Amino acid sequence: MQQFTVNTPTAHYAVICQRGALARAGALISGFAEHTGCVLLSSPRVWRHWGAALERSFREHGGAKKILFDDAESRKTFSTVENICRQLVRAGADRRVVLVALGGGVVGDIAGFVAACYLRGVRVVQVPTTLVAQVDSAIGGKTGVNLPEGKNLAGAFHQPRLVIADPKVLHTLSARQYRSGVYEVIKYGVISDGRLFEYLEDSLPQLLAARPAALDKVIPRCIRVKADIVGRDEHERDLRRILNFGHTLGHALEAATNYRRFLHGEAVGWGMLAATEIARRRGLLAARDAGRISSLILRAGRLPSLPRIPRDRLWRILRGDKKSRAGKLHFVLPKRIGEVEIAADIPDSLVEEVWAGLSNLARE
Ligand code: GLY
Repeated sequence: MQQFTVNTPTAHYAVICQRGALARAGALISGFAEHTGCVLLSSPRVWRHWGAALERSFREHGGAKKILFDDAESRKTFSTVENICRQLVRAGADRRVVLVALGGGVVGDIAGFVAACYLRGVRVVQVPTTLVAQVDSAIGGKTGVNLPEGKNLAGAFHQPRLVIADPKVLHTLSARQYRSGVYEVIKYGVISDGRLFEYLEDSLPQLLAARPAALDKVIPRCIRVKADIVGRDEHERDLRRILNFGHTLGHALEAATNYRRFLHGEAVGWGMLAATEIARRRGLLAARDAGRISSLILRAGRLPSLPRIPRDRLWRILRGDKKSRAGKLHFVLPKRIGEVEIAADIPDSLVEEVWAGLSNLARE
């Protein structure tokens, strides 16, 4: 078992990474002080695979109620949050309830947001079931919903009380869902772990095949980086922004396609290609490193093609993103493999040239 601690000014919690840890969830949570019951929050498709195992883990620990909801990205909305809060009231959940989020990024973001606002805040445990969620979204307390105007534009920071990442559960993901997480793993290599990047260059086929040895190496490594960054900058004042490598364009692609065309990691894949090319053209990143980053991203698999987005719409969405400040776009740009910087002075013309170049690449 590997265990990491996230230490922020508002919370201290463990991230447990272990095969089979899901079966211990009930026992781990039963040790929490003064809880009056657990409610498991998940989606029907995740529940089909892992619900029984999670429920079983609570059998000797007082049992648990469950609430299921649709985890399509397009349903990550206020109305889903309201619906769950109302079901919690009807289930008699009080301030000492523990919510347990079993699922991928959408389940985790919604459950976390429900936990942040239900009765002005209750505890949540994240049990991530996708690679994206295990290496990134379940850790760090970002919760929220999408608006038609943009991704994750309403939400709250609300740290989980515990994160249980069980790599065994990844084997029921579709190949596409799984690969979507591989792009986020590549992100960690580029932003802060050059050795992880080299490992991925050598061992990408093993990771793509979800070989246990590859997962057992990669997941804890990403968790360590994430825990460290969140501990140093909980509310994304500065350092945490580097986790948004590939997300400036990535989020815009998701919003422009109404959250239906791309999985999150796929949109980030395109976004990382764009940021890498911007960095190369600015002379910030050596052509050789840019080639290595792009080639690793492209080796991870075929990305869904880029849609035709009217110019005005793309810019409206890009400027409406949380990462822009006073209407100026911020890009996380690689300086070399393992180090990035934030740039706020990228000319619109360069973004458009790179976008046109990517659109050509997508047609090849
Ligand atoms: N997923 C980026 C962050 O947690 O900051």
